[in-house]
Amino acid sequence: MSTNNCFPKDFVWGAATASFQVEGFTREEGGGESVWERFCKMPGRVAFDHNGDIGPGQFKKYKEDIQLMKWLGIKAYRFSIAWPRIFPDGETLNPKGIDYYNRLIDELLDNGIEPWVTMYHWDNPWALEEKFGGWRSKETVKALEKYVAYVTDKISDRVTNFFTVNEIMCFTSLSYESGSHAPGLRLDRKTVAQTVHNGCLAHGTALAAIRANARRPVKVGIVENMPVTVPAFASEENIVAARNAFRVMSASKLTPIMEGKYPDFWLEEMGNDVPEFDDAEMKLISAPMDFVGCNVYAPTYVIADADAMHGFREIPHPAGYPKMDMPWLFIGPDITYWAPRHLKELWNVDAVYITENGCAAQDRMAPDGEVYDTDRTMYLRHHFMAAERATAEGWPLKGYFVWSLMDNFEWSWGYTKRFGIVYVNYETLERTPKLSAKFYRETIKQNAVV
Ligand code: NOJ
Repeated sequence: MSTNNCFPKDFVWGAATASFQVEGFTREEGGGESVWERFCKMPGRVAFDHNGDIGPGQFKKYKEDIQLMKWLGIKAYRFSIAWPRIFPDGETLNPKGIDYYNRLIDELLDNGIEPWVTMYHWDNPWALEEKFGGWRSKETVKALEKYVAYVTDKISDRVTNFFTVNEIMCFTSLSYESGSHAPGLRLDRKTVAQTVHNGCLAHGTALAAIRANARRPVKVGIVENMPVTVPAFASEENIVAARNAFRVMSASKLTPIMEGKYPDFWLEEMGNDVPEFDDAEMKLISAPMDFVGCNVYAPTYVIADADAMHGFREIPHPAGYPKMDMPWLFIGPDITYWAPRHLKELWNVDAVYITENGCAAQDRMAPDGEVYDTDRTMYLRHHFMAAERATAEGWPLKGYFVWSLMDNFEWSWGYTKRFGIVYVNYETLERTPKLSAKFYRETIKQNAVV
């Protein structure tokens, strides 16, 4: 164990955002409508019917934002590309659509910040939803392939690190089962299972398209929000239980991606609702990645239970369990330690990035113009302690991206939830680094938990 709370020298400190959440101005330079743009127009689907028309406006303010990143000292900026800017109707190329990303990438590199690109972070062209039923259809996967191939060709001369898709569950189950995400449908189990499979296939297809079209050697991985299982306390049996639970709870997503097949117990459980797939698809889905990205927010506690089907039992959070400012945001910094450890122990993964971690808090600007988010600072510091523990013990954690660089459009919560370490005034678009941003800056400067 290290005694000075220091991170390895080459640890990647970064910040993350996503196109629809920060850019605004989605239709400029020939962009098309995304499912989220359409969803925002459906009354009552998004808090206060907020939309992404302007948001924090990074499309216009990227230079200012990059100066903020430089001040923070981050080495990497994870952002996503808006698919409908490039293929407005899902199928026809808009050559001007890539210009914004070229400007953004060049400006980042000029300022010494590495661009880390997510190909798909939920803003798929609405036209594909209308034409094919979105992720219900493999036609959408084909359209993704064309988009990813094109983008890779245009930017891989300067971008080295790519993510395929972000959080399969959120653009499949939340979109077609609970309906809280665009396009807001509530469909049957078989259809939903097909969207999840198509989400895995989208990952595999994008992975292959990036590798096939890259102009230089690049690195590629997925971003998943797998349930991160934490042993309720770290006895040998509970550790084993948590590790098994990690695999079991990802049975329809990360587990087939890592193992090339759906686990038997899952196929049995799904019965007639198993999605349609074949061996070639499973091969594509499970092609080797260079790293695994984990979005970690809240823990899933488990204990060993010899009588349970898989040898573990999930412990629900008690009523008074502490949370940050989201119904699901239970505090549990140990996830930042257990995610890389489980990934190494289960599947021998050698590089893990925390691609998102952070929290919503009820930020208010104080009379002196500062935002004293001691709650977020506390939340982050404990995750850094867990990250440092992971690196000190030799688990393959290589970097960390805070979610988020700035307050942004929090999907169905609109602008009512603030996840940024930089405060955004949505009237003036003024940016104000919060206390947590100053804390993050010092952390990066010392490369240690401060
Ligand atoms: C994960 C998603 O990738 C991101 O878009 C979202 O804003 C954060 N979680 C917070 O909910």
